[in-house]
Amino acid sequence: MIIHLNLEKNSYDIIIERGCLKEAGKHLFLNRKVLIVTDDGVPAEYSRTLASFCAQPYIVTLPQGEKTKCFASYMELCEKMISFGFTRTDCVAAVGGGVIGDLAGFVAATYMRGVDFYNIPTTLLSQVDSSVGGKTAIDVGDVKNIVGAFKQPKKVLIDPDLLKTLPARHISNGLAESVKMALTCDKALFELIESGVTEENLEEIITKSITIKKNVVEQDEKESSLRRVLNFGHTVGHGIETAMELTLLHGECVALGMLPMCDTSVRERLVPVLKALSLPVTADFGIEDAINAIRHDKKLSGAEINVVYVGGIGSFEFRKLPLEAFENQLREVL
Ligand SMILES: NC(=O)c1ccc[n+]([C@@H]2O[C@H](COP(=O)([O-])OP(=O)(O)OC[C@H]3O[C@@H](n4cnc5c(N)ncnc54)[C@H](O)[C@@H]3O)[C@@H](O)[C@H]2O)c1
Repeated sequence: MIIHLNLEKNSYDIIIERGCLKEAGKHLFLNRKVLIVTDDGVPAEYSRTLASFCAQPYIVTLPQGEKTKCFASYMELCEKMISFGFTRTDCVAAVGGGVIGDLAGFVAATYMRGVDFYNIPTTLLSQVDSSVGGKTAIDVGDVKNIVGAFKQPKKVLIDPDLLKTLPARHISNGLAESVKMALTCDKALFELIESGVTEENLEEIITKSITIKKNVVEQDEKESSLRRVLNFGHTVGHGIETAMELTLLHGECVALGMLPMCDTSVRERLVPVLKALSLPVTADFGIEDAINAIRHDKKLSGAEINVVYVGGIGSFEFRKLPLEAFENQLREVL
């Protein structure tokens, strides 16, 4: 299946197909220098498979984990590209999850003011969400995604076979982002997930999630309005992520973050779905720490906070809530 994301000169194809990594030579232009960025938790055979199609591959394997999304890694990759003699006609390819995609994409966005970027996502979170849409970034200290750029990839290869090696916790982590998209934009997708996630329907869940993301990004590439819907659950989620000092995964924090931002009737259906996916539904941590982190979040303006609210499954509204009401809602629900 090929999904075309239409952004005029930044348009690209997203290929969703079991085994498509093994056909990378057919899909990508690799007759040049290719910086293949991966991490030490991703099976090495994935980057080696990609390298086998490249004229001049350079594999760089970084330590796994969010802490790799930092200036030091960014510098390391840029320095490697300089020492290997990369020019503007060469390219960068990410083979990994959201961490590697965000970091490698930012390198591609900025090296010589931009070189081609291919994304080959290997986690479910990156296959349903982060590999598409062009947001790239690194963290600075505790502040997530604070330095970055919009950089659309030239192509995205989504190979669901690569998920066979992914630990179950990371499958759940990715499904949290699919639930986010379903709750806000697609009731049928929510019902599909509610009916039970299996190996058989996982590809359909990926395709439906990416289709939602494509539709949103096509209407608002740079997040000036509609794209903010994709932040559903993230204002609270990022606060929890900071308060928990990265002991909870991104999707797990988003799962918790969605709960206070929806109507009671929605929450009644959401909680069993999250439980079935082994995602958290209550916060066994100091909620005040999360609230403090949110107060420092860039989304705050004065005494009010902008949130995405789901009043009914498959729909959303942007709301501006008084800070006090927002914080009370968090204390009550979580
Ligand atoms: N750019 C965006 O639009 C966007 C959207 C959502 C999240 N994000 C970012 O994504 C990041 C989280 O991404 P993630 O959840 O993919 O985490 P991750 O990239 O850290 O990957 C999770 C773990 O899985 C391992 N792994 C990856 N692929 C594997 C495979 N196929 N088999 C076995 N192990 C594998 C990795 O080594 C890592 O330890 C966060 O930094 C978040 O901010 C970005």
